[in-house]
Amino acid sequence: MTGTDDVVGAKPLERELALHRAAFLARFGGAEAPSLFFSPGRVNLMGAHLDYNGGPVMPTAIDRGTFLAARPRADRSVRLASTLDGHALEFDLDRVPDTKRGAWSDYPVGVLRQMLELAELRGGTARLPGLELLFGGNLPVGAGLSSSASICVGTAFVLDRLWELSSERMELVQAALRAERGFVGVQCGIMDPFAVGLARPGELLWLDCRDTTWSWMPLDARVYSIAIADTLVRRELAQGAFNQRVAQCRAAFEALRRHQPDARCLRDVHMEVLDAHRDELEPVVARRAEHVIHEVARTFAARDALQRHDPQGLGVQMTRAHASLRDLFDVSVPELDLLVETAVDAPGVLGSRLTGAGFGGCTVILLRRGAEVELAERLERAFEPRFGKKPRVAVFAGDPGPREIAL
Ligand code: GLA
Repeated sequence: MTGTDDVVGAKPLERELALHRAAFLARFGGAEAPSLFFSPGRVNLMGAHLDYNGGPVMPTAIDRGTFLAARPRADRSVRLASTLDGHALEFDLDRVPDTKRGAWSDYPVGVLRQMLELAELRGGTARLPGLELLFGGNLPVGAGLSSSASICVGTAFVLDRLWELSSERMELVQAALRAERGFVGVQCGIMDPFAVGLARPGELLWLDCRDTTWSWMPLDARVYSIAIADTLVRRELAQGAFNQRVAQCRAAFEALRRHQPDARCLRDVHMEVLDAHRDELEPVVARRAEHVIHEVARTFAARDALQRHDPQGLGVQMTRAHASLRDLFDVSVPELDLLVETAVDAPGVLGSRLTGAGFGGCTVILLRRGAEVELAERLERAFEPRFGKKPRVAVFAGDPGPREIAL
């Protein structure tokens, strides 16, 4: 995928999965074809860094994600491999690794451990077969499109099917979340696995992370498109910087809750309380809190705009959110800023901001259908002379969520 190639959309999923099946058979041998699954990524439109502060978020699943080919084995051996990375892992179901290795396989191993716990409650684990599982996909990794939740929820879905556990969708989402927080050790909020697990095409998810309630909001795909522009910047230390933001928000809440005892999370704290007690916080902690409190208001304003059938109003809030992520939350980089500034001046664009955690990765752009090619050309023209490479621009369709696909 380079430049505008992808503006017309992804290759048909069936074709990609047929290639994935061939890759599985080349890797593991045998005559029996594997079962094939797809699990989407997600893009978040509003509610940046709000999920772990109990705020509302507005993500939607996208038609790019993880391919999984899986086949049960006659013994208890588990074999994990990927078409995207040379690292592979093999272990016995009775000796599942209990520490992470710092590789992609930490995600499925963490999920497998969670699914074994679920199986324990449903008739025990002794009867479960081992399996071969090949991962792949068409989602850029580390780009803020939640490749990790895509892998985790997808793995939970596959194991549930292969082991016939009949879990509820929410149990799979929780297994994915616990794996990422517990085994992999990222203090992530709940948004990503929920966005993947509760996906509906053509709708944005409205998820209130304080009480875990959700609903869906339509966005007319005949009129509007969601695009991303990938800076191709990947920051090695992003996990540490993310966990640091989580800690700073927690510090702000601990200090401010004394002045607002009814607050259950930073999302509840009023701006007047922050203003009155700003000097009790480290300046950087106060700026993090200011972003969160205003982002909560912007996200509600964005929902109101959509409910009034005014996507333009959503776009305005997206662009404001970016300024706050840049100036108060310090998670932007010059590449992201340039892509946002260029996009919002392009014809047909309603709004743009960085998506995901930041520190590189992608911007998301809400635009009118038909404006995609011109947008991509403008982004390339502005970006290439300054950063010496083309950003990758892609337009996404929605997705119905993790599923088995029969070819
Ligand atoms: C990452 C995390 C999410 C969320 C976003 C920022 O993607 O995994 O839980 O916190 O950052 O909105």
